[in-house]
Formats: sequence, structure tokens, C-alpha cells
Amino acid sequence: MKPEEHELLSRTGAGTPMGDLLRRYWLPAFLSREVVADGAPVRVRLLGEDLIAWRDSKGRPGLFREFCAHRGASLYFAKNGDCGLRCWYHGWKYDVDGNCIDQPNEPPQTQFKETVKQKAYPCIERNGVVMAYMGPPDKQPGLPDLEWLNLPEGHVYVSKRYQDCHWLQGLEGDIDSSHLGFLHGIEAMKKATEHDMSESRDWVAQGAYPKFEIVQKPGAILQGARRDADAANHYWRIGAWMMPNFIVLPAFPGDAPLGGHAWVPVDDTKVWAFGVSWHPKRKLTEQELTWFHDGTPTGIHSTMIPGTFVAKRNKTNGYADPDAPPVKQPWQRIKIFQDQDTAVTESMGWDFDRSRENLGTTDIVIVQARRRLMEAARGLAEGKDPPTDPKAYRVRGITCVLPRDVASWADAVADRMDTSSAENFCPGI
Ligand code: FES
Ligand SMILES: [Fe+2]
Repeated sequence: MKPEEHELLSRTGAGTPMGDLLRRYWLPAFLSREVVADGAPVRVRLLGEDLIAWRDSKGRPGLFREFCAHRGASLYFAKNGDCGLRCWYHGWKYDVDGNCIDQPNEPPQTQFKETVKQKAYPCIERNGVVMAYMGPPDKQPGLPDLEWLNLPEGHVYVSKRYQDCHWLQGLEGDIDSSHLGFLHGIEAMKKATEHDMSESRDWVAQGAYPKFEIVQKPGAILQGARRDADAANHYWRIGAWMMPNFIVLPAFPGDAPLGGHAWVPVDDTKVWAFGVSWHPKRKLTEQELTWFHDGTPTGIHSTMIPGTFVAKRNKTNGYADPDAPPVKQPWQRIKIFQDQDTAVTESMGWDFDRSRENLGTTDIVIVQARRRLMEAARGLAEGKDPPTDPKAYRVRGITCVLPRDVASWADAVADRMDTSSAENFCPGI
């Protein structure tokens, strides 16, 4: 990768090509549970912008630029109530759309509130997450048709975790299937207890070097990892990357909920990892909700420091519990899959110089996703709108067995990967 390409991929601020591209999509901004009606405003940093999340008296979520349109006092200290956020400094009050609805320090004859607007980004709330659109209003696309945004209440769990590295370093761990056997270890995967992997754990164990195949779709890349099952069949684990930062993982075995991530830049050197678990056909069970909340050895949700979005095991403590037994080498302390992923992606530093990489054949999805992002960012800079069709997000991750002589794996599984209907969901194996 050329240094200028690294620069293009890295920068997320407004006015940069990639920053402008990211702003053309609805992105998870904060969790529903972070704000309550008439409760405390919350600081949220997204794409290098300091913002305030809040919820008005009617329960509507809002996302404002942090600094008051009058003279810039932080709205973190604003008074939230009576369907508005009132700046503490001089009392200007804004509704959830950013309209100034009161200017109490101005005499009635000099008020000009109709001309004042607090910068406010549109929000849509679904299944525990507030999605926001930070781009030009006249280019606002439809909400992506991600399966987990459209399911009934109770089918979805969303978590949010702060990670100390560039957003692509986090995301690329999800589309880098060849690390499974090395970072996480086949033995640990075989011992995983959350999922009934009675059949497939042996196939995974025997196939440390799967064959990867990708299929390009509008706004998405499907990735299939193929291993031997028996003489007549292959075992396939199929996931997807979707523009610009959404991931669906291959299905976990059994009737387990599906999993995925959205990697939302805090700024150029940090990322919010939104982890999502959902089941297309049923509500999540109490047991599953407990697992997701507490974090499990092989799951995608982490154990958090209470009241924060920082994982309890993080880089300041070597990604291990303080009472963990002594080990000979640092890597041996890190036992939890998600901690292992975080450890290696953070270990690269905040924004590893991609011009110093040496990419191999198993990095194919990473290469292709970067290429798609760069093409879209360059195109946008030249005035070409990026792909934002909501239908492109109707993609479900699966695991399945297919005959070795199948003509096209993508065609063979197209139905069950299509999230247009929950009825075609097949449990993973
Ligand atoms: S700075 Fe907010 S009302 Fe004056
Ligand atoms: Fe991993």
C-alpha cells in the first residue's frame, strides 16, 4: 500500500475523503440505555467530532454538536427537561432537532431564535441502538436493512466497547478468518461450551488452513471459508463485510443467536466496537442475555468496567485478571477470545502504517474491502455518490455443508443468507 493510500484510509475527520464517505451512511452512534428521558446528557465522540447524546421528555433521542450555538458552552452541563436542552450559561434552549426555542437572556424585541440552529444529527432508534446520520441532509439514504435493525423487540442485544486503535484494525480482525487457529487456538475452540459444536469442531480442528473464496456484491463482500467435512462435502463458514463498517459473522453452531459488529471511529486512532447478537426467529433467552452482558470465553461481548465502555481486561493490565496465575510468556495470560482479538489489534498501535505491511493470500478480504472503501472515497471526492442501497444489507452470516462439486456456493446459499424473511434462517453447524 502506498503511503498516500494509507493516509486516505486513515483519516475520518469532516472534509477528508474517507471522513466524508463515512458520513454518507447511517452509523450506530450510542446505545439506547445511555440516555433516559429528561436525564443527563452524555458526551459521545464520533468521527473526530465532540457530540452530546440526550433524550427529551417525549423519549426522542438527540445528537448535538457539544458546543452551544450561542458562545460555545458545553451542552454536557445543559439542563434537560420540558422537551428541550437548555444551555446552562445563558439559558438558550434547543429542541431535539436543534431548533432554538428560547433565548431568555435576550429582550423580546431583539430575540432572533428563529435564525439560530444547534447542529443536530438525525437519529433513528431501533432495538437498543441509536443510529445517526452525520452527512449532508440532501444525501441522507434510507436506514440500512440490517437484519438486527428490523427484528421485533427482544430478538436483539447490542453492546458497545471502546478500543484503542484505528477503526480498520478492529474491523479487519473480523474479516481475517485465518487467525482463528493461531490467535484463538483450535484446542480452545474445541473446548468452547457456549455452542454445541458436536460436528463442526472436528472439521475446524482438522482444517487449520481453510480455502477462502470471496464474492463481490453491490455494497458488500461475502467471504466463504471452506474446510473438508467428508468425502462428498465441504464445511463452509460464510460471513460478510458491508459498506462501510458493518460485519456479519458466520453463524455459530446450533440454534445460537447470530453475531456481528459495527466499527464506528471515535476519531483517527480509536474506535467504538458495537457488538450485536440477534436471533431471526425468537427472543433471546435469559441465559443468552446474561452471557452477552457478562462476556463469555468465546463470545463477541466483553466484561466491562462497570459504568464504562472499557473492557475490564485491557491493555493497562495485560488483558488479564489481576489474580490470573503467573505465566512464562505474555500471550499465555490472555484466555478470552475477544480479549485476544483486542490485544493483537491494539498491539499494532493506534494507526499502523499500512505501507509497512506484507499482505498474503489469506488477507484477500482485507485487501478487497480496503479497495472498495478507497474507490468509494475517491469517487465521492469526484462527485460520485457511494452505494447506499438499504437492500444491500440484507445479508446473514451462515455455516453449512455443501456438496464438494457445488457449482456456486454463493448461489447455493443465497436464500438462507437473504434476511428478507426470518423463515429461511437455518441454524448453524
Ligand atoms: S453559551 Fe449557551 S446560551 Fe450562551
Ligand atoms: Fe478473532
